[in-house]
Amino acid sequence: MDEVNRIKQLKKERNAIILAHNYQRGDVQDIADFVGDSFGLSQKAVSSGADTIVFCGVDFMAESAAILNPEKTVLMPETNAQCPMAAMITPVSLKLEKEKYPDAAVVCYVNTPASVKAQSDICCTSANAVKVVNSLPEEEIIFVPDRNLALYVAAHTTKKIIPWNGYCPTHHLILPGDILLEKEEHPDALILVHPECRPEVVALADQVLSTAGMLNYAKQSKSREFIIGTEIGLLHRLRKENPEKTFFPGTKYAVCPNMKMNTLGSIIMALENNEHIIKVPENIRIKAKRSLDRMLEAGRSD
Ligand code: 13P
Ligand code: SF4
Repeated sequence: MDEVNRIKQLKKERNAIILAHNYQRGDVQDIADFVGDSFGLSQKAVSSGADTIVFCGVDFMAESAAILNPEKTVLMPETNAQCPMAAMITPVSLKLEKEKYPDAAVVCYVNTPASVKAQSDICCTSANAVKVVNSLPEEEIIFVPDRNLALYVAAHTTKKIIPWNGYCPTHHLILPGDILLEKEEHPDALILVHPECRPEVVALADQVLSTAGMLNYAKQSKSREFIIGTEIGLLHRLRKENPEKTFFPGTKYAVCPNMKMNTLGSIIMALENNEHIIKVPENIRIKAKRSLDRMLEAGRSD
């Protein structure tokens, strides 16, 4: 039996679904029950009737699914698939920052450990960061851990944003010169970039969007060519869903090695051996869930 059929068989036996982020390898996306951005995946984790969720993404995503679904088994095929930006903040360093700004609310990007979500007022994703910040009564906001997303939000709100100094090493590789070079070669192409990009790259964009936002935008746009400023895994879905349009990566070097760890083989191992189970200690889970619930209630804005 080939790998794809074995996965189908195991999914049936275990009443399992496979959730995959838009940056996963193409073959992993193709066997997933749902492929989406961080916001869509959190929503799907809640609405699915499956007993087991195999999460093909990185640590904080599987952890969010476990926080939202304590009664389900959440499996991560590769536990080394960890987001380096999420590791750029700890609960201790956030506590110290909160002491410096006692009147500020804390908004944490979903790319954070559960222990940081537990200490935050609300989570956000790239699909609703500005909306979440504007929904709060506080005028001062500590925004962690992505400084680029924080700067993007600061440019779209009247509130005072206190950014944390984290960043995504993959989006950091996309340079303004890369985008300008692509634009020179494809002058009719629209530039779509993710808000995790450097501000100099964001400044060149026609649209600044989450990965799902880019997929929706490209589908409904009359334009036929696009330069994509995000992790290159998104090109798989963009091309598959829009065969008549052309997509150029901002740079071919924008690869997240953590997102690429999950393979068909590791998904089979996960389902066969019921590994690796992601669990969050109950005292942290309850507090972190409050921040995630509030994020989901806010809805998306892209
Ligand atoms: P979105 O898919 O939510 O836009 O997130 C991008 C990302 O970097 C996830 O790690
Ligand atoms: Fe983390 Fe960046 Fe990889 Fe997303 S693309 S998982 S933010 S390192």
